[in-house]
Amino acid sequence: MPRTPPRAPLAAIVLAAGKGTRMKSATAKVLHPLGGKPLAWYPITRALEAGASPVVVVVGHQAEAVEAALRAALPDAPLRFAVQAEQQGTAHAVLAARPALRGVRGPVAILSGDTPLLRTGTLRAVVTARSRSRRPLAFATMDLAEPRGYGRVLRDGAGRPARVVEEKDASGEERAVREVNAGLYCADAGFLWKALARVDAKNAQGEFYLTDLVAMAARGGGAVAVAVDPLEASGVNDREELARAGAVLQRRRASALMKAGVTIEVPERFLCDEGVEIAADVAIEPDVRLRGATRIGPGCRLGQGSVLADAVLAAGVTVRPYTVIEGPATVGQGAILGPFSRIRPGSELGEQVHVGNFVETKKARLGKGSKANHLAYLGDAVVGAGVNVGAGTITCNYDGEKKHETRIGDGAFIGSDSILVAPIEIGAGAYVAAGSTLTDAVPAGALALGRAKQVNKEGWVARMKARKV
Ligand code: UD1
Ligand code: CA
Repeated sequence: MPRTPPRAPLAAIVLAAGKGTRMKSATAKVLHPLGGKPLAWYPITRALEAGASPVVVVVGHQAEAVEAALRAALPDAPLRFAVQAEQQGTAHAVLAARPALRGVRGPVAILSGDTPLLRTGTLRAVVTARSRSRRPLAFATMDLAEPRGYGRVLRDGAGRPARVVEEKDASGEERAVREVNAGLYCADAGFLWKALARVDAKNAQGEFYLTDLVAMAARGGGAVAVAVDPLEASGVNDREELARAGAVLQRRRASALMKAGVTIEVPERFLCDEGVEIAADVAIEPDVRLRGATRIGPGCRLGQGSVLADAVLAAGVTVRPYTVIEGPATVGQGAILGPFSRIRPGSELGEQVHVGNFVETKKARLGKGSKANHLAYLGDAVVGAGVNVGAGTITCNYDGEKKHETRIGDGAFIGSDSILVAPIEIGAGAYVAAGSTLTDAVPAGALALGRAKQVNKEGWVARMKARKV
């Protein structure tokens, strides 16, 4: 029986050595954040999604910082890094990746590190176009009304791509061509290394152009051009393009979420990091921002202006407007937070918990149904179930040197304006009288009064006024 030889696996090279001068930044361009990830995370992730392994990232400008950030953003990915010490052009950059691809024989995709809008399907289309055509090279092209700055695609009499000419090397007639090179390629490894060895820098910029591969492929075997959506291939070169790319990514995300059953009241005013998970029937009001490893359970409502980072919300949580969660933090089913609550790291809020306006929690565990509805600070606290924390309650967890814990048993009632000086334990079911300052443990079921005794002086006002006249 005839057998098709196993298809050689795809490898990829992502070019990310450039400085990104137009960003006017101390940070390398490919590390500028977009949706919570560095810019280069996007094309690298698309290459991984298309099945590329390994993915070689060519770094140069701030090589160490770029490598460290990308490894941290993609901890388990088959990434390799190659250093291009001096940026002498795109062909020179691809050559720098060669040692990292020793032994790789299959197709090699080449992407730019600054194209966050590329879709996996588009990359796959270029890869497939090459393998189906059995040509040494496929590359993406796009038609632009305003082709300035791009390499123009020149075709032969039969309409086949013959070569790419860079803007600075192009004649007036060539510059009028609107089909441009999108900067996305897939090449057969054997062809790639052989061709690259022959690229020279005899051009207007004195650089080694990767685009010379098109002419070389055209002369032997042929090059396939794949038309792609210009938006996907557009690179980020300055802050304005960064913001525009961010807006496109957010809009795409919002569409996908809405299709999956999430209500987003104003999609243009919704910001969500890559990797955030949102279940169906969540309703999101305008100006909500979701960051990091946030997960939102089904049926939650996120109120206007809320910012949630590394927050895990169970089902049916109501987050009222302008609540800030700086996780890691967890919120149990049916809990109600805000408006204006601040939930800090290590907060574990149980089912049906209510945390209201101007309440701050830090490393605080609140059991089922406990309430702190107004103006409180609960830090380093373990609060049982069904506890009522009155307005103005403060756990004094810090003595200037160390943090201490406050423990409050199930069903306790903490009167308003109580100061609990930790370490301290309030027993189950105990009552703390309003305005108490407590430094000692309160036994279960006891009433603790820790305030000055009130004194009334009958008729005092009249006597005072009489003295004045
Ligand atoms: C390149 C193409 C051009 C195409 C355009 C699409 C060449 C010669 N020209 O031009 O035909 O229309 O992309 O966007 O390839 N890089 C390195 N090392 C280098 C040079 C570049 O890593 O020495 C990286 C850059 O960081 C960037 C990518 O390669 O991520 C593309 O380089 P860039 O200088 O932006 O190429 P263009 O001039 O835009
Ligand atoms: Ca350039």
